[in-house]
Amino acid sequence: MTVVRPRQKNGGPHSMSIISIRQVSFRYPKQDAPALSNVSLDIFPGELLALIGGDRAGKTTLCHMLNGLIPNLIRGELAGEIIIDGKPSSSYPQGGISRIVGLSLQDPESQLFTATVEEEVAFGPENLSIPPEEIDRRVTWALEVMGIENLRKKSPSALSGGQKQRLAIASVLSMLPKVIVLDEPLGMLDPRGRRDLIEILSRLAKEKGISVVISESRIDEFIEICDRVAIMHNGSLISSGSPSDAIASSDTLKTYGIEPPRLQILSELMISENLISQKQSFLGERRANEVLKSLIDREKGGVV
Ligand SMILES: Nc1ncnc2c1ncn2[C@@H]1O[C@H](COP(=O)(O)OP(=O)(O)OP(=O)(O)O)[C@@H](O)[C@H]1O
Ligand SMILES: [Mg+2]
Repeated sequence: MTVVRPRQKNGGPHSMSIISIRQVSFRYPKQDAPALSNVSLDIFPGELLALIGGDRAGKTTLCHMLNGLIPNLIRGELAGEIIIDGKPSSSYPQGGISRIVGLSLQDPESQLFTATVEEEVAFGPENLSIPPEEIDRRVTWALEVMGIENLRKKSPSALSGGQKQRLAIASVLSMLPKVIVLDEPLGMLDPRGRRDLIEILSRLAKEKGISVVISESRIDEFIEICDRVAIMHNGSLISSGSPSDAIASSDTLKTYGIEPPRLQILSELMISENLISQKQSFLGERRANEVLKSLIDREKGGVV
């Protein structure tokens, strides 16, 4: 008799994850409730992972854990295991993790402190004693990727919110990390800026093999490009899987304080009105276009 083993979900001890968080709980000093409770999560190479949750879900705490700020700089009561590139995060020397995981903070302004844009992007590599020509190459590359090469000589304080956001990400990219973690990067951007940034991040994941983790409270605009969605609520990881698996229904999302994708609401309405089948359900624009086009074609076919 053949025994069929269930496929390992989200990897396991033998998988090739870059970051592996195992049954981690964390409580900030003087707080009664833990900010994270028994969270397990792996980050794999080249994946785009959306970390979705409402207010105080624990997104920022988890982001800070992914690059070792917790527990190396931010202290608290910690249980469980945080493995980054094969080693416990607590075993890295100060600043050591930034070569592997770059973090763009929820408030990008707080991480900008030099006189010019190019100095800001050069700052990280300079601290690694990298030769000046190599630093120059990295700075130009990171500024080009983020589409802010023209702002090179400007003062960071003179930039718009969206430009600051791009600069913060460029400063992380110049370290050539394997993983970039972005804590709510879309809030300051207008719709066009959000679309552009999402596209850049998607390209970094697909073309450069960089893992990208985006924490957000809404997922409308990038639901169709992320490989995996992890849902957080009250410090727990509720689910993690493909977008359609993780995002079961708009009502479920609402109970976690997450605003459902608008097109998902439309899709659910159309299913309840028997206009489309469950199989045709959609979460984002691309699939919605396909489904609506097929409906229109069918309608035209009926008229003839
Ligand atoms: N520095 C801190 N000291 C004490 N408690 C904190 C600290 N930072 C976060 N917390 C608490 O930890 C819990 C999780 O907060 P966290 O900021 O990680 O959530 P979040 O999902 O990022 O929320 P938001 O949507 O507000 O950004 C909350 O209850 C919060 O009050
Ligand atoms: Mg936060």
